[in-house]
Amino acid sequence: HNPKICVVGSINMDLTIETTKLPQQGETVLGQSFALYPGGKGANQAVAAARLGAKVHMIGAVGKDEFGKLLTEQLQREGIHTQGIILSDQKSTGVANIILSEDDNRIIVAPGANYAVVPEVIEQQEEVIRQSDMVLLQLEIPLSTVLYTVKKANQYHIPVVVNPAPYQQLPEELLQNATYFTPNEIEAAAMEEEPLYNSIREKMIVTMGSEGVCFYEHGNKTKIKSFTVDVKDTTGAGDTFNGALVTQLARGNSMSQSINFANAAAALSIMKTGAQEGMPTLDMVHKFIHERGI
Ligand code: RIB
Ligand code: NA
Repeated sequence: HNPKICVVGSINMDLTIETTKLPQQGETVLGQSFALYPGGKGANQAVAAARLGAKVHMIGAVGKDEFGKLLTEQLQREGIHTQGIILSDQKSTGVANIILSEDDNRIIVAPGANYAVVPEVIEQQEEVIRQSDMVLLQLEIPLSTVLYTVKKANQYHIPVVVNPAPYQQLPEELLQNATYFTPNEIEAAAMEEEPLYNSIREKMIVTMGSEGVCFYEHGNKTKIKSFTVDVKDTTGAGDTFNGALVTQLARGNSMSQSINFANAAAALSIMKTGAQEGMPTLDMVHKFIHERGI
């Protein structure tokens, strides 16, 4: 069946410059190319889930500007329900400045309208949350909203996944109430410093890029390998992983199966430039896994 996923999170326009040389302090360099790509961790995760067949509701905010219009239309083209996207009067649509060089990417986000996703917005969309099979969040919207959503989901016994990116210290209630956390290695290291860490260890699904993914199964730490591909752009790889993971968990697959599937989706996504550009469909992932014989 097609699971119902509610994504609460950010919507950004990614302003991406490709360069072979990174500027030093005070330096100007000439890059190669510039492009606008739809992005934002929330929107990326929503698109990843939708391409894989989930029925997705997105809750977020954009400004009353051209970027906001383009990004909302883009989500609609993906078949995502956008009734939960509000228009901010005061703030402009979120943007991300992305410097893409040969071996890494560097991102600065100006959240803008994403901070208009206050708890009251979630309150208005309570019915959407209640009707979801799973809820997915990141940290590019106010932390108070993330906490409110997690508690709402809990109240309705709906599993909720928090992707703690970009990292901020998490309130105890959030640690206690979320079902899973999906940090990368750096975020996981920060979470280990939290006083409650030992009690939430089993909720951690740690992504380590090409190194694979670690999680706890019956108290034992387990590692699932990732797939090797030719990398074009790793922007949004984590988002593809998250969107795919919740879709497969909501379909009732086991954690290890879901992680392996999400690893495959993420691998396919990084073969094209732009966060959402290479995100695969269900058939593409199945074919890829089959070809790799795993
Ligand atoms: O995770 C990648 C995303 O982070 C980009 O699309 C950018 O908008 C930032 O939110
Ligand atoms: Na991509």
